[in-house]
Amino acid sequence: MRVTIETERLILRPITVEDAEAVFKWASDPEVSKFMIYPRHRDISDTKGWLESIDHDNPDNYEMAFVLKETGEVIGSGGIYYRQDEDYWNIGYNIRKDQWGKGLVPEAMQALVDHVRETRNARAIRGSFAKENKKSGRVMEKLGMTYLKEGEYSKFDGSVTFPCYYYERIF
Ligand SMILES: CC(C)(COP(=O)(O)OP(=O)(O)OC[C@H]1O[C@@H](n2cnc3c(N)ncnc32)[C@H](O)[C@@H]1OP(=O)(O)O)[C@@H](O)C(=O)NCCC(=O)NCCS
Repeated sequence: MRVTIETERLILRPITVEDAEAVFKWASDPEVSKFMIYPRHRDISDTKGWLESIDHDNPDNYEMAFVLKETGEVIGSGGIYYRQDEDYWNIGYNIRKDQWGKGLVPEAMQALVDHVRETRNARAIRGSFAKENKKSGRVMEKLGMTYLKEGEYSKFDGSVTFPCYYYERIF
């Protein structure tokens, strides 16, 4: 979906292949990619491949760059997509390590969630995080989400499987 959303410190806009160098900075970082479903990007062609695969014409998928207003830099990305089978919106996010701990991801994701509530009448949001990844759990708590169930997820390449918690918020 092609929208632009402004928050206090960020502009959220569709992420594109022009952002490849900025994205590669965090997608190639072992600490940032550790719990992400994508395997760590080893070459910028991995990043370009992902960015080119995004369908921004899909109204049920928002894949956004987080642009820091202060510097104009793309410092992270996040998405929300509709799961029709269970009628909820699934969230995911990551941000460059030097920007951790400033509340930027909760700020971005809150704006995205508000947007789908207002424009798509979203019934619920859901997300999962590795049990070890307490930082991501904090983001979901800040979004008002609570424990739903346990489960597990694997990286796309099957290299590792993490026990996880699913969190949800029903509006
Ligand atoms: C999880 C993540 C998105 C949090 O984003 P953020 O913008 O830093 O979020 P916050 O500033 O609200 O911090 C969340 C928690 O991270 C922890 N944290 C913050 N800064 C930290 C730092 N520099 N080092 C270690 N932990 C830190 C704190 O526990 C914080 O919770 P608190 O605010 O209650 O103290 C970010 O750490 C990240 O990109 N991690 C790697 C990718 C990832 O795991 N994504 C989620 C997959 S499900």
